[in-house]
Order: sequence, then C-alpha cells, then structure tokens
Amino acid sequence: MVTLQVFKLVLILGCFNSIADGLGVNWGTLASHPLPPKTVVQVLKDNGIKKVKLFDADSGPMGGLAGSNLEVMVAIPNNMLGMMTDYATAKKWVNKNVTSYNFNGGVNIKYVAVGNEPFLSSYNGSFLNVTLPALENIQKALNEAGVGSSIKATVPLNAEVYSGDLPSAGQFRTDISDLMTNIVTFLNQSGAPFVVNIYPFLSLYDNAGFPFDYAFFDNSGTTVNDNGIVYTNVFDANFDTLVSALKTVNLGGMEIIVGEVGWPTDGDINAKVAYAQRFYTGLMKKLASNTGTPLRPNQYIEVYLFGLIDEDAKSVAPGNFERHWGILKYDGQPKFNMDLTGQGRSVTLVPAKGVQYQPKTWCLLNPKVQNLTAIGDNIDYACTYADCTSLGYGSTCNGLDSSGNASYAFNAYFQVQSQIDGSCDFQGLATETTQDPSTTGCNFTIQIVLDSFGLQVTVPVQVVLLQVLVSVFLVMVW
Ligand SMILES: *[C@@H]1O[C@H](CO)[C@@H](O)[C@H](O)[C@H]1NC(C)=O
Ligand SMILES: *[C@@H]1O[C@H](CO)[C@@H](O)[C@H](O)[C@H]1NC(C)=O
Ligand SMILES: *[C@@H]1O[C@H](CO)[C@@H](O)[C@H](O)[C@H]1NC(C)=O
Ligand SMILES: *[C@@H]1O[C@H](CO)[C@@H](O)[C@H](O)[C@H]1NC(C)=O
Ligand SMILES: *[C@@H]1O[C@H](CO)[C@@H](O)[C@H](O)[C@H]1NC(C)=O
Ligand SMILES: *[C@@H]1O[C@H](CO)[C@@H](O)[C@H](O)[C@H]1NC(C)=O
Ligand SMILES: *[C@@H]1O[C@H](CO)[C@@H](O)[C@H](O)[C@H]1NC(C)=O
Repeated sequence: MVTLQVFKLVLILGCFNSIADGLGVNWGTLASHPLPPKTVVQVLKDNGIKKVKLFDADSGPMGGLAGSNLEVMVAIPNNMLGMMTDYATAKKWVNKNVTSYNFNGGVNIKYVAVGNEPFLSSYNGSFLNVTLPALENIQKALNEAGVGSSIKATVPLNAEVYSGDLPSAGQFRTDISDLMTNIVTFLNQSGAPFVVNIYPFLSLYDNAGFPFDYAFFDNSGTTVNDNGIVYTNVFDANFDTLVSALKTVNLGGMEIIVGEVGWPTDGDINAKVAYAQRFYTGLMKKLASNTGTPLRPNQYIEVYLFGLIDEDAKSVAPGNFERHWGILKYDGQPKFNMDLTGQGRSVTLVPAKGVQYQPKTWCLLNPKVQNLTAIGDNIDYACTYADCTSLGYGSTCNGLDSSGNASYAFNAYFQVQSQIDGSCDFQGLATETTQDPSTTGCNFTIQIVLDSFGLQVTVPVQVVLLQVLVSVFLVMVW
C-alpha cells in the first residue's frame, strides 16, 4: 500500500515536474530600470522555469544566463534582418552571439529567432524580402560552425500570418502565401519548429463583438462548431487554424511552439489582474493535462509565456496594455497567485530576491500651489518620459482626480529619473513627500536602483580578456 502510494506520489510529482520542464517565458528588457540579469535568472530558477526567450542577444542577459543551464532562444531584431542577407554578416552574428557562448559554463542556446513577427501588417511589408534570406544565412552559419544539429534558426510569427473562418479552413495570408510556403519548407528541411504568438487578449481587444468568455479556457458560453469538432476557446481554434494552414503545404505534422502567450494586467478595460489570473489558471491546467488541441489531441504544447516582467519603456503603439504583460511587476514581485504546475493551487510565484529600491520618497503636485496654468504642459512632459499608462481609461489609476493625475505623472517622472536633483520640480508645481500617496488599486511606485546593465563583465568579455592575457603571456615567453 505504502509503496503504491509513494509510487503514485512520484508519478504525480514527476508529471507536474514535467510541466515546469517545458514551460518557457519571454524576457524582455525594454524597461527604464531593468532588474539585474543575475536577479532575473535567479527568479527563473526559483520558479522552476527552465526555458527563456530573448528579443536580442545583448551581453547583459547573456552574461546572466551563462552557467545557468537554462535553455535559451536568442534573437535577431527586425532592424538587423536586412544586414543578415549578407552571409559574412550573418556569420559574424552567429560567431559573436551564439558560438562564443558555446562552452562549458556558457549559454545553452537552442534556438535563434530570426526577427520578431516581421510580417505584421503594420510593418507595411518592410521585412518581406529579407526574412527568408536572413533565416537561410543564419542556419547556414550555424551549420558551418558545427552547431546546426542542436541549434535551429526559426522566425517567431504573429497569428496574423494565417486565417480561416473555421480552424479547418486555415490558410496562410494570401499576400504572403508563397513566402510562407518557402519559409515553412525551409524550417521543415532544417528540422526547426514553427514559432507562433497567440493572443486571446488581442482577439478581444481588436474585435468589439468578440465573445468575452471564449478568450478563456474555462469558457462555458460561446463555442465554435467546426464540422462536428467543438472549440471552446480561441487559443485552440487559433492553434488549429495554423495546423490546417500547414496541412495545405503538406506539413500538417510540423512541430509548433507557442512563442508568446499571456494576458496583461493594466492599461485597458480588459487588462486586469483578475482576468490574467483566470487566463493563466486555465492555460496552466491545459498544459499540465497534455490535452493538446482538437487537431493535435493528447499532446504537450511547448509555450513561452509573455512575459516575465513589466516593461515601462515599451512602445504603446499597440495599446497602453503593452507595458503590463509581466507575470511579475517591474521589481520582480508577483502580481497574482499563479500555479505553474497547473494544479490550480493558490500559490504565489517566488519573488525576485535582493531587489534594491530607491528611497521611499514620492513626488506630488504641491497642494500649496495656486496658479495651475502650467499643469497640463508639465503632465505631458512627465508622461513623455515616464510611464503614465495606468492613468488611462479602464486602468488602475483612472479614478484619480485631476490633482491626483498630476501627482501620479510627476512621481512617475521622478522615479524614472532615479530621484535625481531637480526631477521633482515641474516649474515649482511639485514637491517631495515621504508619505505613500498610493490608493487602493493605484500604486505610486518607487523605482528600483538602476543596474549598470551594460557595464557588467560578461562571459565573452572574460573570454576575450583571457585570450588577451594568453597572448600577452605568449609574447612574454617569446
Ligand atoms: C550580437 O547581438 C547584439 C545584440 O542583438 C548586436 O547588437 C550585435 O551587433 C551582434 N554582434 C554581431 C557581431 O553581429
Ligand atoms: C506604414 O504605413 C502607414 C500608412 O502609410 C504609416 O502611417 C506607418 O508609419 C507605416 N509603418 C511603418 C512601420 O513603416
Ligand atoms: C521586395 O522585392 C521586390 C522584387 O524584387 C520589389 O519589387 C519590392 O519593392 C521589394 N520590397 C521591399 C519592401 O523592399
Ligand atoms: C520535410 O522534411 C523531411 C525531412 O527532410 C522531408 O523528407 C519532407 O519531404 C519534407 N516535407 C516537405 C513538404 O517539404
Ligand atoms: C500663472 O502662470 C502662468 C505661467 O505658468 C503665467 O503666465 C500667469 O501669468 C500666471 N497667472 C497668475 C495669476 O499669476
Ligand atoms: C486623468 O488622466 C487621464 C489620462 O490622461 C484622463 O483620462 C482623465 O480624464 C484624467 N482625470 C482627470 C480628473 O483629469
Ligand atoms: C506598490 O508596489 C510596490 C512594488 O511592488 C509594493 O512594494 C507596494 O506594496 C505597493 N503599494 C501598494 C500601496 O500597493
């Protein structure tokens, strides 16, 4: 009996472990005060997350990841795709940003993301001509460097590259169908997965009539009947639309990785902690149960959550929610309970450790000021350089009155400037305080201490130093 129970326990633990094994997160660094890379890597480890996807190959995060054994997807930003159509340049990129980390104690790179959603319609076709040549060159360079069998180049694409009225009718977008055929044919030949970003939140955000509950996994409302197959959530429907599109080019069995999936917590009426929690609870349960999708049943789906940490310096062109995708706040603190093992337990993520904050000083509109003529211009100035997205309609600080708005903006600027002298002035309108002005739900944050991100001694630098020392030594011996 006991043995049986222990056996069962081991089975259960083993099964839940395997979830965390597969789960990845996106680590974006477009923040005014990014957490130190080592702190981020520690928080990943503490939460049992073993895979991470980056948006570049900057030496800060790469240095932090060195020796961690976390599996890493590095990336080439879209604005470098054109350069990569030159093979010598692609080779240099691979040499510097992949091969140089390929040593014991280096970085465990598994994928190179060539661009990020390069075929978004909003890019007006800017990357249509360069993405495939860049992909080919990067994989060729990986092969030539002798790492091509374990490191694959791929292109994370947004779900907008395919469509279908029903999942079974999925096909690649007509304007890029030849290009997509060539890309997936190449990916298949090199043994690379298709990486797709799927955002139920955006389905809701972009379509006024979208059935709210269909964005979630515990939906009991609207379903979609596709010739007898019933879809209960848009994630499955979207995933299977891609499966169908791949079938049209005889690649229906191609490996698919979800490169981004998540739910933001502020900056829109539907970007709320409660909805994010509902979404993630459903997603984690789904992943843990290996149910797959109707067209790919009983399969584990590899996903990278978007994202790990809020990024207060991201462009808000897509919407104010863009800076609030983190499962952790800007300071590495959890936002809501989340059980990564998919058991739906009420547990918190492990917070980032050793985070250094600026002093507990806030900047406010000085209540003694009488002439408020210049207030509008000063708010605009503050919000141009700091993140005021929580003030907007449907956001956490939308309930503030006009002086609260001014204070929020002034404080955001003061913090983003790391509280330096003169950053809480605003033509005499502002004053400092040590009383926390936060209200229920609306947080006047204190920023963290700015890490000397670029100045960290990273592994490649150390390697270079070692090489220099060795050469000096050799010269001396001679
Ligand atoms: C390595 O990647 C970084 C960050 O993406 C980039 O700035 C740099 O130019 C790359 N190095 C080479 C030699 O291409
Ligand atoms: C795409 O075109 C639109 C309209 O012409 C323009 O407003 C936008 O800035 C362009 N975007 C890019 C990335 O070039
Ligand atoms: C892509 O290439 C085609 C054919 O060579 C050319 O007509 C088109 O202008 C190019 N598009 C861009 C965005 O460079
Ligand atoms: C996919 O790749 C495999 C292995 O290289 C190959 O046998 C197969 O023909 C490819 N399929 C397509 C549709 O290109
Ligand atoms: C209020 O301030 C503005 C400039 O910020 C100034 O032009 C105006 O004269 C002031 N009004 C009064 C009554 O002092
Ligand atoms: C506060 O600022 C937000 C965002 O700019 C705006 O929507 C709201 O109307 C402002 N509230 C007041 C009372 O001025
Ligand atoms: C505001 O956010 C900070 C940073 O996460 C947190 O320490 C603090 O408790 C929050 N304040 C309120 C009033 O919620």
